[in-house]
Amino acid sequence: MEIHEHDVVIVGGGGAGLRAAIELGEAHPHLRVAVVSKVYPMRSHTVAAEGGSAAVIKPNDSLDHHAYDTVSGSDWLGDQDAIEAFVKEAPGEMIRMDHWGCPWSREPDGHVAVRPFGGMTIERTWYAADKSGFHMLHTLFQTALKFQATKWYHEWFATKLLVDEGRCQGITAIELLTGQVHAILAKAVILCTGGMGRLYPYTTNGAIKTADGMALSYRAGVALKDMEFVQYHPTGLPGSGILITEGARGDGGILVNKDGYRYLQDYGLGPPDPWPRLRAMELGPRDRLSQAFVHEDAKGRTIQTPFGTAVHLDLRHLGEAKINKKLPFVRELAKNYAGIDPVHDPIPVRPVVHYAMGGIDTDIHGATTVPGLFAAGECACISLNGANRLGSNSLTELLVFGRRAAAAAARFATEHPKLAKELLKKQAADEEGRIAAQFIRKQGGKERIATLRREMNLVMEESTGIYRDGKTLEPALPKIAALKERFRNVTLDDRTAPFNTELISAIELEFMLEVAEAAIHSAFQRKESRGSHQRTDFPKRDDQTFLKHSMAYRTDGAPRIGYKDVVITRWPPAERVYGK
Ligand code: FUM
Repeated sequence: MEIHEHDVVIVGGGGAGLRAAIELGEAHPHLRVAVVSKVYPMRSHTVAAEGGSAAVIKPNDSLDHHAYDTVSGSDWLGDQDAIEAFVKEAPGEMIRMDHWGCPWSREPDGHVAVRPFGGMTIERTWYAADKSGFHMLHTLFQTALKFQATKWYHEWFATKLLVDEGRCQGITAIELLTGQVHAILAKAVILCTGGMGRLYPYTTNGAIKTADGMALSYRAGVALKDMEFVQYHPTGLPGSGILITEGARGDGGILVNKDGYRYLQDYGLGPPDPWPRLRAMELGPRDRLSQAFVHEDAKGRTIQTPFGTAVHLDLRHLGEAKINKKLPFVRELAKNYAGIDPVHDPIPVRPVVHYAMGGIDTDIHGATTVPGLFAAGECACISLNGANRLGSNSLTELLVFGRRAAAAAARFATEHPKLAKELLKKQAADEEGRIAAQFIRKQGGKERIATLRREMNLVMEESTGIYRDGKTLEPALPKIAALKERFRNVTLDDRTAPFNTELISAIELEFMLEVAEAAIHSAFQRKESRGSHQRTDFPKRDDQTFLKHSMAYRTDGAPRIGYKDVVITRWPPAERVYGK
């Protein structure tokens, strides 16, 4: 087996991973840095982000406003020390992106333009038309490439964290081109592997978002925090789940039911006029809008599409010129994937899974409880987003906490120069043997990856959708355990080495099953309703018992769920009010 050695290894080449790589290249040029990514970095899911990235920049705004919107958006489950650090560092990060060449949309006088976004009291979402993620990722990648000492492992898939004496000291990864397993030793590892949308059948998330980093750290003994909080984005295309950005509503789009009625006014989200109104109607937070859809659907006031029920996102009143200027990608997506030109017809949309608020438990520097292991971006739960993330906070989160994790990892790597090389090599060889025995050389086995994945998707959708209750969560516990058991009997058709995508799918499924189990158990045990976790059998928020983060710990059997206090600095729990 080939052994590689670095000071800091970043796993994941999306926004957080690349921001971390830039920080290491700029501030710690003496460190040997590597980026390991299962796809070429420009194919990371950050590329699919559309609407923009939040940071205070205008004179009518303030850090406190941004912080309060985030706290109340999180239904008070966000840690306020993390939120305060985030809003403070956000503007500097966005200006840095500007200097690195990110083509932010501008006002006619040249100032950066901002658009309104859901749950925000003031317009503060910077954007690059509706391809913000593409431009941000491109900017980060071209900047990261300037640091010639950084070693890139494009299309390498991490399978295990190497942990010796309680300290993370590297990873094993499959080089997809050859199928070889390699050991990549490092004094610090930063996981930036993205979210877990593919646990669900309908999601805005690309096929690569399979909970990899969450599962790797969970197996290494780190708790998964707040896994029951899964965000549905209110406007995905039915069937494909393709994102139609909230920016479309920020720029004036309205949501109407089958009768052309702006139904959100019936769900505590305010009256429809005057337009635009912030924190109201179409600019309410995502959890409330997705819940309103469920009620409207139950009343039979949605439209039928070949892919289930939907409501209409109407942009026609914006006119062709504005749509072309600010929402060209929405037009392109609607035409190509729904056969609708939004200049002339409303777009059918429905809630689809978009984002995991939960993830790898870290502190505000991205450090996990395993020394040497750090995490940032969607795979991590810092916790900035609590029970419900506000749209456009996550692109900024990648920057702020990607940089912070890199700074902390650099410090750690410098202070811990020694690696237990022989023991790590042995662990890596064992992992190579496990993959061969479990998948490549295995005889017999009759379970198919696609079947298990479909069943997992259904269990997740039924038990941990927009609304949950004990009656569907309880049976989901043995169902997910049974799927894990059946996975042991999975069989592959492709036993070859180069680009064995079936093998990668199998390992991804194994990751997802573990994380799904943690999510279902966390949801079952949280007997209250908060943000995106709405229990019909416990419809009220219960701060007395549950103003706490849930912590799922891996065991040999079912996960053990514990709790950890939420950090409250300046904003004591209050009612979440929108539309007034
Ligand atoms: O709707 C959107 O453009 C999504 C943005 C986000 O999730 O932050």
